[in-house]
Formats: sequence, C-alpha cells, structure tokens
Amino acid sequence: METKIVAVDKENVRDEDLLEAAHIIRKGGLVAFPTETVYGLGANALDEEAARKIYEAKGRPSDNPLIAHIAQYSELEPLVSEIPEAGRRLMEAYWPGPLTLIFPKSGKVPYRTTGGLDTVAVRMPSDPVARALIRLAGVPVAAPSANTSGRPSPTEAGHVYEDMKGRIDMILDGGPVGIGLESTIVDVTGPVPMLLRPGAVTLEMLRETVGDVEVDPAVSGPVTEDRKPKAPGMKYRHYAPRAELILVEADESEEVRERQQGLQGKGKGNKNPAGDRVVDAITRKALEDLEKGMEVGILCSDETKDAYPEGAVIRSLGTRSRDETIAHNLFKALREFDDLKVDRIYSEGFSREHLGQAIMNRLTKAAGYHVLRV
Ligand code: TXA
Ligand code: MG
Repeated sequence: METKIVAVDKENVRDEDLLEAAHIIRKGGLVAFPTETVYGLGANALDEEAARKIYEAKGRPSDNPLIAHIAQYSELEPLVSEIPEAGRRLMEAYWPGPLTLIFPKSGKVPYRTTGGLDTVAVRMPSDPVARALIRLAGVPVAAPSANTSGRPSPTEAGHVYEDMKGRIDMILDGGPVGIGLESTIVDVTGPVPMLLRPGAVTLEMLRETVGDVEVDPAVSGPVTEDRKPKAPGMKYRHYAPRAELILVEADESEEVRERQQGLQGKGKGNKNPAGDRVVDAITRKALEDLEKGMEVGILCSDETKDAYPEGAVIRSLGTRSRDETIAHNLFKALREFDDLKVDRIYSEGFSREHLGQAIMNRLTKAAGYHVLRV
C-alpha cells in the first residue's frame, strides 16, 4: 500500500483538503492526523474491521483499547450508557482538549474498539485539523498514537512516516504538535474519578474541577501482580527508545540532604548540590561507557547541557523553568537517539509537579523503571 502524505495548514484548515481523508475513514481505511497531544492513527471507531486494521498496522496487542475521538458533544451520547456527573464537569472544563474520559460503553461501540472492556475512552481534541477531519468523516474516530507499538509517540508527521509507511492509507501533515505528550486519562465510572494516565490536564487541575481524584498506583510505579494498571496500555514497556535508558535522579532523602548541607557548610559553595550530583554521576558513567567504545546519549536541560563530556550525544529538552518545553521535546529527542544508534542513554530527572507528573511518568516508563539515585 502506498501511504499518501497531504499537507494541511493548521491556521487555515480547508474542508476540501480533508475530504479524501474523511472518505478513507468512512470506507474503513486508516489515516494518521495531528492532534494537540501527539499524532493519532485514525479509523472508524464503530467499524470492527477498521479497528482490527489499526492493531495490525501498529503491531499492537488487541486487548489494548482505543480512544474514540469526537468533534461535538452530541456524538458522545450514542457511545456511552451513562454520563456520570464528574464526567460532565470535566468535559465542560477541558473539552475540547487533552483529556480522555472513560465512560460505561453503549451497545453501539464494538468490543474490538474497547479491547473487550465494557467501558469506552472518549476524547474531543482541540486541534483544528483533527476536529475538521472527525466532523467530515461523520463518525467517531478511534485513534491510538500513530507509532509502532512500543516506540515513542509521534510528535511530527515524519515520525509517523518512519513507523507507518506502506501500512496506512494517508498521513495528514499539520506540522509539529503543541503538547507532545498523550492526553490525560480519567476514569469516571467509579464513585471517585481516577487518574489513569497523567497529561497536560494536570492532577491539580482535575482536583480543582471535581474535588477528590484518586491516582492509579501504576501511574508512578512499576507494574506488579498487585499493581495492575487500569488503563491496559500502561502495562506495556512504552515510549521506549531502542537504547537502554537510565534515569538518574538526586536522592532527596533527609540523610543525603544533611550530608550535602554539611559539605556546603565546609565551604564547597555549591548552589545546586542535588543537580550537580546528577551531573557528576552521569558524567562519570558516560565516561566509563565511552571508554568501552559505546555510543552514549545524554538527555538533559539547558541549565546543564554544557557541563557534559565531549564524545557523548547531548540533547537538551529545554529550560527547567518551562515544563511545556520539556514535554514538547521529549519524544522527539528519544527518537533522535534511535536514529543516531546510541547504545545507552542517561537522562536527568525532572520535577514531578504539575505537568512534570506526566513527563516523569513517560520517562520512567521509557527507562523500564531503571532509576539510579545519587
Ligand atoms: O493524546 C492521546 O490520547 C492520543 C491522541 C492520538 O489522541 N491517543 C493515545 O492513544 O494516546 P493510545 O491508544 O496510544 O493510548 C490510549 C490509552 C491506552 O493506555 C489504553 O489502554 C487506554 O488509553 N484506554 C483506552 N480505553 C480504555 C478503557 N476503556 N479503560 C481504560 N483505559 C483505556
Ligand atoms: Mg500510544
């Protein structure tokens, strides 16, 4: 199959540029399209055969359910058997936008789309290309991130082409996405809403809107027997670069902090001991690996990028004072390391506050929970 690429101008979306794409979706084909979070791989959410094609193109396990994307509120009701009050409040606050809600599903949604679950994930994206495409298709559009299963989600059309060329009918190229991390997922089917995947609608924002929100333990820790994630997709090693990724974080325990303060007191004059500890540890490890002839990548920030040794591939995600920039650049940087065929990547840790929760969730998963505390 030849994959057609169609450029669309996000600032000036014309229906005529999207008619062929909408037609492909209505006929059961696959079209990748930009959203404000990451690129999605779209198909008719009500067509079992189209959903099957998505799993095949991605190489995705079929128990991993898809998100149905809609363009108008009137499209929600046919998909769900109930709209809980918390869901209603969250929709009003954050749709259209980077928030996916889990509802009890109606009989209309095939189990192929929901991976056999009795619930359905629904999102109304804000990206103008996505919205126009869904509207013109006239059906809810099932869309996982448009990457091969297990690779970092695509934030540019070129990433989609790398993974999907020859496997899908069309890619709508609307340029780089805005956010760069997948949507926040909240399950509103229980008595208390539960955060299943952190994203740009942060936990603080959710709590401001609906009060109490629980967090699925799988959001912050590795999956174990008694810690199975509620979002089936969260159990796979995900967002993963081909190289081994090791996350290096400062140990902020009392004991270590006191020892550091003691050192400072003795005139070390160190303004950012935690950050420096991380830089020192990464530098030491990277030099050891370079010595062995390995290709080493370092994922860092503008604040530290000049401190690392020559010979390593150094990529800054931007300044630590702007979470949005770090989030925006993360998946692209992981893909670049793949292209450069590095053997091992060391990444600095970032703040877990606000959007940082999503950033660190993706980073720790990409690292397969391999975290070095220094
Ligand atoms: O930002 C996004 O959400 C992007 C863009 C394209 O909209 N889509 C996306 O889809 O990230 P995907 O398939 O890569 O991730 C969907 C996640 C998976 O972890 C899946 O397990 C979870 O949503 N999910 C879908 N339906 C669910 C359900 N009924 N219950 C619990 N989790 C569900
Ligand atoms: Mg995905």
